[in-house]
Amino acid sequence: MKLHIAVLPGDGIGPEVTAQAVKVLKAIAMEFGHIFTFEYGLIGGAAIAKTGHSLPEKTLELCKNADAILFGAIGDPKYKFDVESKIRPEQGLLKLRKELDLFANIRPVIAYEDLLEKSSLKKKFIKDTDILIYRETTSGIYFGEKTLNEDEQIASDICTYNRFEIERITHLAFKAAQSRKKRKLTLVDKANVLESSKLWRKIVLEIAPEYPNVDLDFLYIDNAAKQLVMNPRQFDVILTENMFGDILSEEAGVIVGSIGLLASASLGPKYAMFDPIHGSYSKATDKGIANPIASILSGAMMLDHFGLLDEAALIRKAIDKSLKLHITTPDLNTRYDNISTSKVGDFIEDFINNPEETNLNFRNIHLGQSTII
Ligand code: IPM
Ligand code: MN
Repeated sequence: MKLHIAVLPGDGIGPEVTAQAVKVLKAIAMEFGHIFTFEYGLIGGAAIAKTGHSLPEKTLELCKNADAILFGAIGDPKYKFDVESKIRPEQGLLKLRKELDLFANIRPVIAYEDLLEKSSLKKKFIKDTDILIYRETTSGIYFGEKTLNEDEQIASDICTYNRFEIERITHLAFKAAQSRKKRKLTLVDKANVLESSKLWRKIVLEIAPEYPNVDLDFLYIDNAAKQLVMNPRQFDVILTENMFGDILSEEAGVIVGSIGLLASASLGPKYAMFDPIHGSYSKATDKGIANPIASILSGAMMLDHFGLLDEAALIRKAIDKSLKLHITTPDLNTRYDNISTSKVGDFIEDFINNPEETNLNFRNIHLGQSTII
């Protein structure tokens, strides 16, 4: 298969983790005889620094002409205290989602058996967690009208949703639930207070009879936030609006042991983007400590999207192996120091090229005589 991939590394650790995903995708192309080409574009703080825009026109064009987008991370601490700034890195991502109509952000949360000890939650509660979060990402409070009165004493952000926006992601989430073992869909909202949430609930209830084999459940966001860490196994597919989804998916990082493990797909009618859910983690930039797995897994989600299931499965197998052998960055590793972002990428690349040899290479790594890393 030929795939032209727009790569938007972005800010902070974005470039270094994305480089590992590209490395792994190249290994897959080689192994399976595909032709993947990569074209790079600026976004976020990096783009503001060079062009003055968080999403330059050229980047948008690049994305529109690509088969898929691989995105890194966005955000720059420079803006942390500068709340007045009219231009912010994050706008680049929001604009991209809006312009490309990437309304469904899908975030899988799967607890790895080998990492259960890494979570701050008790092993017995998180074991076998397998959740798929469907977060709406082109509307809601992120995109509603924003106001600040003249003397800057009153501000507002309006959360608006229309029927069409709710319906389209609801169908996707029900379909996903239908194809899973548990066949359960939980709508997370605040329908006891918010008008927009009431509309979500009403529409989801209307659609539910079309999917009779899916168990539908509702939870208020405050309760859902608690349940997610108290008893994550109760969840299967979670459907929710933009901001609740942002918060819940970040929280879900606690279950898997590191936010550096969570990948996502952002899908719309025409375009598809794949990105780790973690932020730019600027403090770690260029230190070689950023976990590349979320980015590499985003690459696997991209392959799944194009029906390259064996290829995606091989990436996941390589990741499993790296975790089993503790070839992981310091956020997860307690056994070895010095396993850097690129070393993890090298190991996964090597496994893809040559799965049989990997144990041997591991011994070499251990002895400090590595030929591959
Ligand atoms: C995410 C991020 C973004 C969001 C930010 C960077 C705008 O936190 O993708 O989860 O809030 O959607
Ligand atoms: Mn977030």
